[in-house]
Amino acid sequence: MTALTNDLIKLTADAERNADRDGRFRQKLHLMPPAGWLNDPNGLCQFKGIYHAFFQYSPFNAEGGVKMWGHYTSHDMIQWKYQGVMLYPDQPFDCSGVYSGCAFIENGKMYLYYTGNAKLEDSDNYDYINSGRESNTVLVTSTDGAHFGRKRLLMKNSDYPADLTLHVRDPKVWKEDGTYYMLQGARTKEDVGQAVIFRSEDRIHWTLYSRVETKKKFGYMWECPDYFEVDGVKILSASVQGLEGDEWKDRNVYQSGYFTVEGDILGEYSLSDYRLWDYGFDYYAPQSFDTEDGRRIQIGWMGMPDCKEYTNRTVEDGWQHCFTFPREVFVKDGIVRQRPIRELEERKILLEETKNILKTKKCTVYEAVVSNISDDQFHAVLAEGLTAEYENNRFKIEFKNDKVSCGRKYRFAGMDHVTEVRILSDESSVEIFVNDGEYVFSTRYYPEEPGICIEAEGAEIRLYEISE
Ligand code: FRU
Repeated sequence: MTALTNDLIKLTADAERNADRDGRFRQKLHLMPPAGWLNDPNGLCQFKGIYHAFFQYSPFNAEGGVKMWGHYTSHDMIQWKYQGVMLYPDQPFDCSGVYSGCAFIENGKMYLYYTGNAKLEDSDNYDYINSGRESNTVLVTSTDGAHFGRKRLLMKNSDYPADLTLHVRDPKVWKEDGTYYMLQGARTKEDVGQAVIFRSEDRIHWTLYSRVETKKKFGYMWECPDYFEVDGVKILSASVQGLEGDEWKDRNVYQSGYFTVEGDILGEYSLSDYRLWDYGFDYYAPQSFDTEDGRRIQIGWMGMPDCKEYTNRTVEDGWQHCFTFPREVFVKDGIVRQRPIRELEERKILLEETKNILKTKKCTVYEAVVSNISDDQFHAVLAEGLTAEYENNRFKIEFKNDKVSCGRKYRFAGMDHVTEVRILSDESSVEIFVNDGEYVFSTRYYPEEPGICIEAEGAEIRLYEISE
């Protein structure tokens, strides 16, 4: 442990001790930072029965700062226990931030791969794209998920292809036919976003294997790539910066979505069109993992980087951002879908069961399930500030009150019918799953008072309170 590590431990403890844990927008079901800022989920896994969620963490500043890995554990992905910071930026190769990465589990060992970010002193000579920074691939291991060994530098920029800029990051590792593969997000010197695949026989020594890219340029940088197979469908996920044109106009500053992969991503393959994981305001950098019972769970950052359009009222309380509620990714009728993890069911208490219309001010943490919607009739108002409705082949969420929205306006997705809607609301977030999880809308919101009004002619409506 270095003197810097010691100081960071002390400063983090001070920040967490002084944090306001009772602010009215603190979430009940969603992971938040103990103090300061949170972004991407990292190192998600189930290890020896316990779920681990690490997170990009800047405890000293609610608007972001140097990144480290905070650590939560859980038995059910609902109640999480904070375990402190596991990785501090305390080495020359990660001194400007322990950036995002993954967990890979094998033979009773947890391997954490991450990007060590090092930025050189500010200077007019650096553009921080082709000069002035390092993206290092680093490994740390653990046999108990509580104690981690020393950091081992595996690769530096000079080990990556020469046509890439210095933006190469966010390793995601998997094993196929006895060989280990690592995906990393990248930006080429021509400003093209892509993913790079490395291979290894021993998880330590990695060599370049191949690239994954679209036929036509798709953004200038792919962050946090992920690759997995679910229900026989191969999925390449990427959080993409730099998408331009009409299609992206009324959307978030950066996008998070996926391509389905036909063929072999390690050989001959073709990518489908890109489809968004989420159509709301706050969703980025998702990561997925397999549970020991074989489910593919995905968690995203319920936030948006470099966003000038909207903000979060929790900044005044000294913290910002949270994760999405964990979702199971599944495929039905050939469509990739998401639903809240089934552990939620055990927490639900039925409050009301009705038809056509539901109006209540009873709770803030709830799930409303609207099923058998007929003739596409759906209109809801949450907390007197957020509407969700289906009209003219669009499902749209729109804010009518700036205190509730903090700058958010509207988002939509085109679809030709609406049959089923699930609304999962926490103290300051809403996630809306439409048509059996075919579309999802996630947003932070800041209700002045609780309230929900749903009108859906002919539909069955159930309202559940969710116990902690
Ligand atoms: C995505 C991201 C990653 C990076 C991390 C730094 O939100 O920019 O690419 O590793 O955040 O916090």
